[in-house]
Amino acid sequence: MRVLVAGATGAVGRLLVPMLVSAGHEVTGTSRSDAGAERVRALGARGVRADALDRAGLHRVVAEAAPDAVVHQLTDLAGADGAANARLRREGTRNLVDAARAAGTGRVIAQSISWAYAPGTGPAEEGEPLDIGAEPPRSGMVAAVAELEEAVLGFGNGAGTGSGTGIGNGADIGVVLRYGMLYGPGTWYAPGGAVAAALAGEPGPPFLGSLAADDAVGSFVHVEDAAAAAVAALDWPAGPVNVVDDEPAAAREWLPVLAGALGVPAPAPASGAAGWQRGASNALARSRGWRPRWPSWRTGFPASAA
Ligand SMILES: NC(=O)c1ccc[n+]([C@@H]2O[C@H](COP(=O)([O-])OP(=O)(O)OC[C@H]3O[C@@H](n4cnc5c(N)ncnc54)[C@H](OP(=O)(O)O)[C@@H]3O)[C@@H](O)[C@H]2O)c1
Repeated sequence: MRVLVAGATGAVGRLLVPMLVSAGHEVTGTSRSDAGAERVRALGARGVRADALDRAGLHRVVAEAAPDAVVHQLTDLAGADGAANARLRREGTRNLVDAARAAGTGRVIAQSISWAYAPGTGPAEEGEPLDIGAEPPRSGMVAAVAELEEAVLGFGNGAGTGSGTGIGNGADIGVVLRYGMLYGPGTWYAPGGAVAAALAGEPGPPFLGSLAADDAVGSFVHVEDAAAAAVAALDWPAGPVNVVDDEPAAAREWLPVLAGALGVPAPAPASGAAGWQRGASNALARSRGWRPRWPSWRTGFPASAA
């Protein structure tokens, strides 16, 4: 299959590209820079430059690749700028989905998150609503995630193509991967990453923020397992799927394990948790055969910090 990976140099993309290549796919991977495109080539794929916010340029790149499937692993989080990431989710996704449609692509798989669900009891399942009624600043993040998902899945009125075929009405061809908090190489949680720096008391943006409130429950996933889910999703039925490990946990449990793995002191407990901080269930992904190599952060944190 011809597969185009948008965001091939990111924490997930750079693991995904070699997995796709070794599965026998013909892979094109994008970066905004020449250096990034070169790194993609070194992974065994065709590396091309593309900016998802440059609609015409992206259309050209996707048309030339003529992919059977597009995998969206774009985020703009390197600068911890929520507004930039929200713009990429909205405009970048729209541009990519439209380009895929114009190129006759049969499948779009996109990275989303598993902590945009509305408040509820226990780990969230895919049929539950997103937290559209959230207060700012969370509301902006949830709205951008909802727009990304609508563009890919075509539910609601959001797909906005009216084409009647392909991705626009594409309840049957879009898969949204609602990843847990990504950890492992290249992430904020890796040694030298932003969370490690925050835990060590270095100044910077609040990378942990309310996620680290004592009773806040979250779900993690190792980047390698996240990438493997994107490969598997080439054959999954359409719809959203939580891609999280087996053990949603409160910060009071995971934070000391992370701090220990990183060799920094565990922070003082902070109280509280919001209703949406509930983690997510991976029962659906597991029912489709996805098996995380790292079923829990308990073993994943120390292994990926070693
Ligand atoms: N679920 C989660 O927990 C989650 C999800 C995503 C990211 N993160 C965190 O975010 C941090 C950064 O991760 P990362 O390196 O994967 O993300 P990143 O630096 O935000 O970039 C991800 C990918 O998107 C591409 N990209 C960004 N803006 C683009 C644009 N306008 N047009 C086209 N491509 C664009 C980048 O390509 P180029 O830079 O090569 O152009 C890169 O391939 C990590 O520490 C990770 O922990 C967490």
